[in-house]
Amino acid sequence: MTVHASFRHDSALKHVTGQAIYIDDMPEPPGTLHAALVLSPIPSGRLRRIDLAKAAAAAGVVTTITAADIPGHNNIAGAGREEPLFAHDRVEFIGQAVAMVVAGTLDQARAAAELAVLDIEPGEAILDIETALARQAWVQAPSMILRGDPDAAMKSAPHRLSAALSVGGQEHFYLEGQIAFVLPGEDGDLVVHSSTQHPTEVQHVCAELLGCDFNRVTIVVRRLGGGFGGKESNASAIAGAAALAAAKTGRPVKLRLPRETDMIATGKRHGFQYRYTVGFDGEGRVLALDAVLAADAGWSLDMTPGVIARALTHVDNAYWLPHVRAVGYACRTNLQSNTAFRGFGGPQGVVVMEDALDRIARHLGRDPWDVRALNFYRDGQDETPYGQKVEENHLARCWAEVKQGGTLERRRAEIDAFNRTSPILKRGLGVFPLKFGISFNLPHLNQAGALVHVYTDGSIRLNHGGTEMGQGLFIKVAQVVAEVFKVGIDRIRPSATSTAEVPNTSPTAASTGSDLNGWAAWEAANTIKQRMIAFAAEHFASAPDDIAFADGTVRIAKPGSNQVLSFGEMAKLCYQGRVSLSSTGFYKTPKVHWDGAAMRGRPFFYFSFGAAAAEVVIDTLTGENRVLRADLVQDCGASLNPAIDLGQIEGAFVQGQGWLTCEELWWDKQGRLRTVGPSTYKIPGSRDAPPVFNVKLLDNAPSREATIFRSKAVGEPPLLLATAVWTALKYAIEAVGDHKTAVRLDAPATPERVLAAVATLRN
Ligand code: MTE
Ligand code: MOS
Repeated sequence: MTVHASFRHDSALKHVTGQAIYIDDMPEPPGTLHAALVLSPIPSGRLRRIDLAKAAAAAGVVTTITAADIPGHNNIAGAGREEPLFAHDRVEFIGQAVAMVVAGTLDQARAAAELAVLDIEPGEAILDIETALARQAWVQAPSMILRGDPDAAMKSAPHRLSAALSVGGQEHFYLEGQIAFVLPGEDGDLVVHSSTQHPTEVQHVCAELLGCDFNRVTIVVRRLGGGFGGKESNASAIAGAAALAAAKTGRPVKLRLPRETDMIATGKRHGFQYRYTVGFDGEGRVLALDAVLAADAGWSLDMTPGVIARALTHVDNAYWLPHVRAVGYACRTNLQSNTAFRGFGGPQGVVVMEDALDRIARHLGRDPWDVRALNFYRDGQDETPYGQKVEENHLARCWAEVKQGGTLERRRAEIDAFNRTSPILKRGLGVFPLKFGISFNLPHLNQAGALVHVYTDGSIRLNHGGTEMGQGLFIKVAQVVAEVFKVGIDRIRPSATSTAEVPNTSPTAASTGSDLNGWAAWEAANTIKQRMIAFAAEHFASAPDDIAFADGTVRIAKPGSNQVLSFGEMAKLCYQGRVSLSSTGFYKTPKVHWDGAAMRGRPFFYFSFGAAAAEVVIDTLTGENRVLRADLVQDCGASLNPAIDLGQIEGAFVQGQGWLTCEELWWDKQGRLRTVGPSTYKIPGSRDAPPVFNVKLLDNAPSREATIFRSKAVGEPPLLLATAVWTALKYAIEAVGDHKTAVRLDAPATPERVLAAVATLRN
């Protein structure tokens, strides 16, 4: 089988030899111009005047662009409230684009952009979640998930406790920064090479800015050097600005942000603050949860509604909560507009119960792992607070696999023994069970299209609406098509995503890429295959059932004679018989529905499950901490490609580890982001990955739902497994106080925070 097999990424060799072509590697036609953005240096204020005289007169400058140069509509919001490409009357954060300079070379453009003079009357800025909460400054109305009667249940619960917590945001740090390269054609047509996860939104935004029909703008995406959610909505502004310049000058224009500008101007993962009260019985069974989740949305709406919805639908994580109220606030601050980031609010949702269950266990003097298992959803019986039944529940299996029949308890006993004799270094062990919903919360996004051509030599060209950002989508979908035709994977040529080939696409996000595009491509390929079968049956006077595709051939079984053609010979024969060898394919996810106002429905086609155990060590004198070991099991259904999935799980875990430990975004009192590069913003390096790193795909767990070849999505869920690292750090810190007191450990758990938490137990 070509599916369920570990083919390497189709660009693996090109990635490691530097031969993969990213947008900045493309040959530039003569006359190509380069652009640089002028950004607001003030977090809030009235934009009185933009003086670009000096910039326009600088060496090599061809033109400058402001909001006044936009022929269409100054709006880059994909949906919802409008968001200007270039500020016109107000600025809303330090880093907001105000103007753009276009010049002959990149250096000229960037040097000239420095010469812009902005006259801004400073206004009042909200720079943190507390202030926004106090002023009730939201980007959308508060939303709530409610089940049962949490007030009454809380009142009658034998035990109650309350706590507060916060987690930070996260910079995507894609290796390839935001970039677009726009080639003007005739009659105002544009071809836009964009590093985007959402080509269709880029198309719409460019057309809206230019005031032209969508059919004038073609977006092409061969690959992204990483997206991680950061190029779902944020790529549109970059492409839109470059498109304006190309339209204005009639010349090719490239806009590539330097890392610092990229970090200052674009959105990140939402930081969250939490307050919660939990009611429970003497065994640790949760009876009620009352939680407030306040997210830093930044200055505009962007994708915050989806992030809040996913946070609220993941507050329960693996646990049955009979009575629950979870309220999500989307706080408006004068900071970067936060956006999609791997997990999309899910990681920020699940920490609430992990914190609560540790505190409950501490309070009752019980084992925090037992308290977790006690609260697990029961298979096929329990419903989530938003009304979706938890089916095909692999929690118990995943849990058993990481606990490895008592091995984990033994290791914890060893760690406890170590801690008793080690005054300075303390070790910790943390576990985490995972349930993650797969599908877009917005039901209409759960659709995909594909376009497959079979040529007369038997080679196959594959196109679909999904984008390749390193996650291995192209190879997985190619495997699906190879499987349909029963040809070798080398016969399939995946091609750049293009709005001209497959229109009206959804973003490649919410981990749905292979689920959606896999099925769409299957549909396209199967349509062609059925045509080939019908033709062959007629041509060879045989029954359709006697035509078999296998090993790159087509066999026609007839009484007394067996005919075998190569797939290419069959394709040629079909062509001569005037059979169409090209087809589109379309797929929409069944069963999903969602009432966004009531926050109820079945937002997810299925759940993916997993579990993790992480071991850490901290230095109680410096707060330094390391992950020593991680054991993960992740449910990928019947994986389309176990090697790719393994890479996704490892990468996601380390990215999650970075979010919870070392990656700290830091703004000064004026609201200026000061962590703007790898020197000040610490992403995990290869030496931060756990030296012992055991990753397993849950075996023999084909999806019960009709997913493509019974596989499950993998892109985001394993990021949440890193929550075990944070739990382990708390355990190590609490060892200082003999596990008598629960500590508050905000994320990222930097050495400073670990040290401060240790100090609370020492005095
Ligand atoms: N893996 C790599 N190498 N690069 C990426 O940018 N993005 C992640 C994940 N894995 C990403 C990645 C995110 S945020 C998502 S939603 C999924 O991939 C998207 O792709 P998929 O739906 O095909 O899994
Ligand atoms: Mo992923 S955050 O859904 O792009």
